[in-house]
Amino acid sequence: MKTNILGLPVKESEEMAQDLNVLLSNFQVYYQNLRGIHWNIRGKRFFELHVKFEELYNDAQLKVDMVAERILTIGGNPLHTFEDYIKHNKLQVGKSISNDEKAVHLIIESLSGLLKIEREILNKSDDINDEGTNALMSDFISEQEKTVWMMRAWAEESL
Ligand SMILES: [Fe+2]
Repeated sequence: MKTNILGLPVKESEEMAQDLNVLLSNFQVYYQNLRGIHWNIRGKRFFELHVKFEELYNDAQLKVDMVAERILTIGGNPLHTFEDYIKHNKLQVGKSISNDEKAVHLIIESLSGLLKIEREILNKSDDINDEGTNALMSDFISEQEKTVWMMRAWAEESL
């Protein structure tokens, strides 16, 4: 098995970079979903939600950068155009959502989609001992699961 300078298998790392690019693309859509609801939210809970959505998109922006830099670290090229992001997107695109319940559901749905992609990457990274990617996915997954719990608690839904 041919390995790169990091000791990771070359072919599998190329595939890992592609998988991470799919995650990056979906993350950018999640980020834009959050910007949309931050701007368009209306109603009596405006002040708390406007701030909460900003907190979430700032966090998403940091994670986008971590994914892109992980791709570079393992020898890939991070996608950076909207065209590519849309091509790989699997998430619902929220448009002109101003209702608070719908906004929170958009977050839950988006995170659920990201978790699916991250779990696949988690498994694959485990198979090739790519601890860096694996640890990144672990952190993302536990944080996002907690956010899903909080969003569902807000919406008064059971898990
Ligand atoms: Fe703002």
